[in-house]
Amino acid sequence: MSVIYHESTKTFHLTNGQISYIMKVLPNGSLGQLYFGRAIRDRESFDHLLEMRQRPMSSCVFEGDKQFSLEHTRQEYPSYGSTDYRRPAVQILQPNGSRITDFVVRSHSVSPGKPALEGLPATYCESSGEAETLTVCLEDALLGASLDLHYTLFADYPALARSARIVNGGGMDLHLTHAMSLCLDLPDSDYEFVHFSGAWARERWMKVRKLEQGIQSVESARGNSSHNHNPFIMLRRPGTDEDKGEVIGLSLIYSGNFLAQAEVDAWDTLRVTLGVNPFGFDWKLAPGESFQTPEAVMVYSHDGCNAMSRTFHRLYRSRLARGQWRDRPRPILINNWEATYFDFTEDKLMSIAEAACRDGVELFVLDDGWFGARSSDRAGLGDWTPNPSRLPEGLAGLARRINGLGMQFGLWFEPEMVNKDSDLYRAHPDWVIHVPGRRESHGRNQYVLDFSRPEVVDCVYDQMAKLLSGANISYIKWDMNRSITEPYSQALPADRQGELFHRYILGVYRLYERLTANFPHVLFESCASGGGRFDPGMLYYAPQGWASDDSDAIERLKIQYGTSYCYPISSIGAHVSASPNHQVRRTAPLPTRANAAYFGAFGYELDLNKLTEEERQEVRRQIAFMKEYREVLQFGDFYRLLSPFDGNFTAWMTVSPDRKTALVGWYRTLSEANGPFRRVKLQGLDPELCYRVDGGDGHYGDELMNLGLLTTDSGAGECQADERPICDFDSRIYVLKA
Ligand code: DGJ
Repeated sequence: MSVIYHESTKTFHLTNGQISYIMKVLPNGSLGQLYFGRAIRDRESFDHLLEMRQRPMSSCVFEGDKQFSLEHTRQEYPSYGSTDYRRPAVQILQPNGSRITDFVVRSHSVSPGKPALEGLPATYCESSGEAETLTVCLEDALLGASLDLHYTLFADYPALARSARIVNGGGMDLHLTHAMSLCLDLPDSDYEFVHFSGAWARERWMKVRKLEQGIQSVESARGNSSHNHNPFIMLRRPGTDEDKGEVIGLSLIYSGNFLAQAEVDAWDTLRVTLGVNPFGFDWKLAPGESFQTPEAVMVYSHDGCNAMSRTFHRLYRSRLARGQWRDRPRPILINNWEATYFDFTEDKLMSIAEAACRDGVELFVLDDGWFGARSSDRAGLGDWTPNPSRLPEGLAGLARRINGLGMQFGLWFEPEMVNKDSDLYRAHPDWVIHVPGRRESHGRNQYVLDFSRPEVVDCVYDQMAKLLSGANISYIKWDMNRSITEPYSQALPADRQGELFHRYILGVYRLYERLTANFPHVLFESCASGGGRFDPGMLYYAPQGWASDDSDAIERLKIQYGTSYCYPISSIGAHVSASPNHQVRRTAPLPTRANAAYFGAFGYELDLNKLTEEERQEVRRQIAFMKEYREVLQFGDFYRLLSPFDGNFTAWMTVSPDRKTALVGWYRTLSEANGPFRRVKLQGLDPELCYRVDGGDGHYGDELMNLGLLTTDSGAGECQADERPICDFDSRIYVLKA
């Protein structure tokens, strides 16, 4: 792995044998982009990649030179207005009203490893040999502002992490209105723009659009990364599929307002920018102040989307997620939310926990409703003290009883929110994000605390830390159930109101940092009305996240399939819930509900006492199965095989690192009469090894990968003795052992 600099041509070549990333100082001193893709051999000059041509009606940089126009030049961190008319990576509003900047390369440095980003989640190294970081320092002399572009190349991943830091070293107040984490200018636009969009209960559905001239984007302006769009996109060559072809994955390690944008110009070149959403963003940089962008990660694959995903999975699982739970198989939990909603007593909770414990569940999670005056969604948020009428011996008492069963105890919080009917709001009405004198919009009858204010974060921390110190709590589900409206902080001056959204998220990160540092044994699960903030920023603090409030197994196929493009399986919270399902009223077989949830951080979300004895036996079988295979299910190499977005069948699989064990999940949404023989081509197996399928016949890996695994079972009508009757929402797990 190395960062190579060729002085004679002022060219940077970052290469690790898997990818190459090549940049060059341009004639105006700014930094140009030459190549990103599969590794190519190094050479002194890549100047032939700098395509320039005289074009009528173009504006040019230097008088007498009709070729050098930034309009046609691929750049690293472009600004608007000096011959480039595309959307910029950086824009600074200056006291004279100008927004023109001119950042010129002054120096660069290379260091082993990867420095942390203060206050922000980011990938990291455990030893300095794992990565190398290039910092290119640019300066706008007129403003006295400097711009540091950071590039970390990982030795073992086809991945590059990028961020930028802008420092006001001059004497004037500046306003940063665009500060993207990444700009990638590509020489052609023959890509599909793939994004993961939806809404509450149908998060991260895969959407594919052909890139055309003009701007296409996904974004959030809600304060959370959102159910609606995810800060992850793919640029996929037409014809690329899961196991072949070129794809670039771009991911932003951030949980707030973001923009992922693709701009195709008149010459079909492509500019992609990813970072904090410039909409409504205005960060004042007083003299001496600086702004650090969040980190963006670019992954390249020429072997299709599965290979790209496996890179993200490995990198994010082991070098973004942190803490004691990072590498550990996750406890099988039971959560009382869908079993009770707000209607519970301690005895009712205990009966749910006892039943679950008898069946082998390891962790009981008490969800919403245990604190303050919280008996509905109208009251209590902000008052993090146990409700004595529900928990007579407090949290410590309940935790003792749960622990007495041999289970761990976990607890739900919604730290960022407050109800007006709460002691916290009565004491501090100004702590709510709102514009004085205007109506305050609510979401679920609740209001958002102004986490840009350190005293607000401190107050919530103190309340939570007291509870964590006073009871044996092993797990926290951190929920967040509404987006921000009327963005305004009473603690910020008028010319800093455009900082609120980012400062809010920094406050969320600060609270997470303090809690995870001081209570390192606690397993955190992030949540935002399900998957409203399922992003890499959260993954840094919470190694798993509740993927969606939609717990229906068939709905989950799409949600989990879409989620798997960027996020590791160990991070995807997935539970077996009651039937008919509470979100879509679907009746799905109990095995199918588990077969979908196995590929995630597995648990239950129902009262097992309400099941028949036969169903309880099935639950016990499921839990025993999960305990036997969770290491492979959560940490194995994951392959998508059949997409729920393409038809009636879904299949995916995971393979152990030694390739001796594999689990294939196969799902058929609607049954079919007298269907064809269907085979699913497996991936990731050892072609030389012979695998027993479900303890039966042996099949060689090459056969299973090239010919496929036969998944057809009984037809309609008669079925043979060894076949299962067919039904809608059917599924199977195949266990392959070498
Ligand atoms: C939304 C979450 O996604 C649910 O799982 C549950 O915790 C509720 N909030 C509780 O209010």
